[in-house]
Amino acid sequence: MPTVTMIGGGQLARMTHQAAIALGQRLRVLAERPDEPAAQVSPDVVLGSHTELADLRKAAIGSHALTFDHEHVPTEHLAALVTEGVNVQPPPSALVYAQDKLAMRTKLAELGLPVPAFAAVHGADDAVRFGAEHGWPIVLKAIRGGYDGRGVWMPADADAARTIAAEQLGRGVRLLAEVRVPLRRELSAMVARSPFGQAATWPVVQTVQRNGQCAVVIAPAPDLPEELAAAAETMALHLARELGVVGAMAVELFETHDGELLVNELAMRPHNSGHWGMDGARTGQFEQHLRAVLDYPLGDTSPLAPVTVMANILGAAETPAMSMDERLHHLFARMPDAKVHLYGKGERPDRKIGHVNVLGDEVAVVREKAERAAHWMSHAVWTDGWDPHK
Ligand SMILES: Nc1ncnc2c1ncn2[C@@H]1O[C@H](COP(=O)(O)OP(=O)(O)OP(=O)(O)O)[C@@H](O)[C@H]1O
Ligand SMILES: [Mg+2]
Repeated sequence: MPTVTMIGGGQLARMTHQAAIALGQRLRVLAERPDEPAAQVSPDVVLGSHTELADLRKAAIGSHALTFDHEHVPTEHLAALVTEGVNVQPPPSALVYAQDKLAMRTKLAELGLPVPAFAAVHGADDAVRFGAEHGWPIVLKAIRGGYDGRGVWMPADADAARTIAAEQLGRGVRLLAEVRVPLRRELSAMVARSPFGQAATWPVVQTVQRNGQCAVVIAPAPDLPEELAAAAETMALHLARELGVVGAMAVELFETHDGELLVNELAMRPHNSGHWGMDGARTGQFEQHLRAVLDYPLGDTSPLAPVTVMANILGAAETPAMSMDERLHHLFARMPDAKVHLYGKGERPDRKIGHVNVLGDEVAVVREKAERAAHWMSHAVWTDGWDPHK
């Protein structure tokens, strides 16, 4: 049975390992430290850095496919691995559109797909000019290396834009500017594609961000008109084929107040907006990603309930006195149907340390329950005042 190498030892690799076990495969991870979420559980850990070609080579030896839990590997290193015969999936020619937000915006615009107006920012003046032309506030983004909203700024005026641009450019961060889209909500269209060319989508979901990071996912997106859902899925399939994507891909979308869809960004790996499918779909994203990178036929993505809600467990501002283990006992006592996934990470403010999936029939009920469960796991406080000892 094959070995797959995943670059990065975070929770996405940890959950991919979980899927690999069921398929009789081995997931080797390249991790920086032995205490990273996936390094804790995989018997096949290469310690090293994703920015060192020698470490990437070491992780690739004898493995059937090399894939990613994040997009931060230098594209030139991946090109070198491909030249040396490593089966890099997604290939760097596709992955670059998930690594480089300017390349992605430019490519999508070329393909005629809807994106927010954007421009490269070479100097602070470019940011100011963009705001003057399109109106304030604008969005400034790091072209590479951002995640969970780190690397996104929303200056309200020319002075703020000048300060941010000068500071970031001075640090060597490349920037782009884009219009701030008036959002009705955010959606994610996920797809997986194999080298053979088979592709399968999951239902389009709604993502709720707090402080620029994903907090809640509702699957499927409530009250999404059928034609918009179909358009989003078609766009994801079209992009996966056009870019030559292999593995899972999330197309993060903005839905405007006029019911228009704009592409925010692409992720070519398992994605937070797909965690619901671990319990809520016949085939979840981690198994599907493995099937895709190894060119197996893909699995059925049908939902298992009318609604699944995923709520992230985020580290609290102050770590509760009650242990995580005790919190879990209480949660299980109260909600036998809640499915909990913990990543083996230390609790730090706003850090993603786990998630809860709840399945059901009614969006409002299921969402309230999932968020209540996740809040309990983060804070050891029931938002409805429930006391287990009364
Ligand atoms: N042009 C925009 N208009 C309005 N809101 C935006 C815009 N760009 C980003 N945002 C908000 O900021 C969030 C983070 O932006 P983006 O997805 O580009 O950054 P990221 O840090 O790469 O994200 P991720 O958390 O997915 O890794 C978006 O989900 C959205 O809520
Ligand atoms: Mg994003």
